[in-house]
Amino acid sequence: MAIQRTYSMIKPDATARNLTGAINAKLEAAGLRIIAQKRLWLSKAQAERFYAVHRERPFFDELTSFMSSGPIVAQVLEGENAIAKNREVMGATNPADAAPGTIRKEFALSIGENSVHGSDGEDTAKEEIAFFFSGLEIVG
Ligand code: CMP
Repeated sequence: MAIQRTYSMIKPDATARNLTGAINAKLEAAGLRIIAQKRLWLSKAQAERFYAVHRERPFFDELTSFMSSGPIVAQVLEGENAIAKNREVMGATNPADAAPGTIRKEFALSIGENSVHGSDGEDTAKEEIAFFFSGLEIVG
């Protein structure tokens, strides 16, 4: 498997509890390199644009209100099989279903306040990275 890049985002429930370093330690321990990172506070409109694919879901307003309720940390991760590896380190969307040792099992509060987001495929990864970062900001 080739070296891949993926988009990762530490959510407001985690930044509020000062968990950025603890989450980054888990990503790095899994062999993922943080090759870009910035802390931002999204507006509701920006969160709605980022999560536009979920616009028709019943939780869309809850999701975008939460994602604009406090700072997030936007990241680009690089490594072998980075998209799948990041999803493995994050654990299942619902922390109740997440495997022991995963970020969501250890830190997530609920299915909505689940501490991290990670791209689910190669096309999404490209789009999500481009949403947050210019080429100059990514230092591999
Ligand atoms: P994420 O990987 O950021 O992608 C979409 C998000 O929607 C997901 O993580 C969850 O945090 C959120 N989500 C999914 N299902 C629900 C739900 N039933 N209620 C609230 N939020 C949800």
